[in-house]
Amino acid sequence: MNSPDRKPRRIMFVCLGNHCRSPLAHGYFQHLLKRHGLEHEIEVESSGTSGWHLGELPDSRVCRVAEKHGFTLTHIRGQKITIQDLKECELILVMDRSNLRDVLALDEQGRYAGKVKLLRTFDPESVQDQIPDPYYTGIFEEVYMIVSRACDALLEDMKVQLN
Ligand code: 4NP
Repeated sequence: MNSPDRKPRRIMFVCLGNHCRSPLAHGYFQHLLKRHGLEHEIEVESSGTSGWHLGELPDSRVCRVAEKHGFTLTHIRGQKITIQDLKECELILVMDRSNLRDVLALDEQGRYAGKVKLLRTFDPESVQDQIPDPYYTGIFEEVYMIVSRACDALLEDMKVQLN
């Protein structure tokens, strides 16, 4: 249980559009937190490095994949990452190296660079460190498998610090 005087920890998932990969990770991680009774301990958000889908619902194809796996993304709206997010979140999880470069470019002095990590590096089954963009290829189920494995491992990692 989160004590009333303890602020929840904040994490943010980031991709290019905040339209496919980061909303999927956002919704899946919240679903996972609920299953573990930890939804009051960790606050989850997502954003994009572009502002292309500001205020929009996630892509309908990624919403369908989430529903198939028992959770929804309908509470998520597109937003763009800011330097304030880097200051306030303890961890920024990006999907690929181009997201990594764009996020680090917001932080000219490199003050928050240690908080920015490639989500896929948590995936114990992967030798790759990037999560492919399914927007043009349509590989949403494959991306779900990668995102869910990486998020499962990320939560185990974060749980160690909750105890
Ligand atoms: P995401 O995928 O970065 O996983 O959200 C994309 C979504 C939209 C576009 C590109 C990538 N787009 O070109 O609109």
